[in-house]
Amino acid sequence: MALPHLRLGVNIDHVATIRNARGGAHPDPARAAAIAAQSGADGITIHLREDRRHIRDSDLEAVRNSSKLPINLEMAATDEMLEIALNFRPDATCLVPEKREERTTEGGLDVARLHNSVSPFVRQLSDAGSRVSLFIEPDIVQVAVAEAIGAPVVELHTGKYVELVFSGNETGADEELTRLRRAAEEGVKRGLEVHAGHGLTFDTVKPVAAIPELIELNIGHFLMGEAIFVGLETAIRQMRELMDEARK
Ligand code: PXP
Repeated sequence: MALPHLRLGVNIDHVATIRNARGGAHPDPARAAAIAAQSGADGITIHLREDRRHIRDSDLEAVRNSSKLPINLEMAATDEMLEIALNFRPDATCLVPEKREERTTEGGLDVARLHNSVSPFVRQLSDAGSRVSLFIEPDIVQVAVAEAIGAPVVELHTGKYVELVFSGNETGADEELTRLRRAAEEGVKRGLEVHAGHGLTFDTVKPVAAIPELIELNIGHFLMGEAIFVGLETAIRQMRELMDEARK
């Protein structure tokens, strides 16, 4: 029996990365959001980083106004970001770890260690009507703590799985896929909605998309890179097709 539809959240941060490389307004992330909406995306994901290296504050409303898709705001658990999120009121928020010097989000939020500091963010964002997810390693202890601090959603970090596939470590990749499956099962057992993402490509998406418990994947960098060659609409449609094939 076919598995239910797997939502595709398209992360458009790197449209802003290219724009910011030259200043000015082109390419416009809001235009990318509008194209994503016509190409089979179910949501738009944006990460407002402390250093504003890609998405900027002024992009938030512009992106929201450019499509009817729900907005998932990725953010660090800081007072500055909380204030912005409480004003902006995104449909969903995803709390991620953030280090200034990293190139991208490295590893999940260690909620098993940081639960006391993270839990007020979960509460305040939830009270403001945002569906809060915690970006965590595919680890059953992290899942259990996410539930304990009241997060309705977890997003499992797929970066390690992708790295293992591309380094040719088949055994390691299989083990990591098993960790992803177990964490997804644990999440559902605990009543959580389970998402996944980070680093996914055409070559790595299917085994992840085939995990039956998953509700949503968030994919950005690869799609934006591929869009340079085939266009954004084609890249998103192809990803959508691969996800659908994996769930047949
Ligand atoms: N999910 C989360 C929580 C992320 O931080 C990111 C990167 O911003 C992604 C998914 C998408 O990762 P990628 O751009 O590698 O597809």
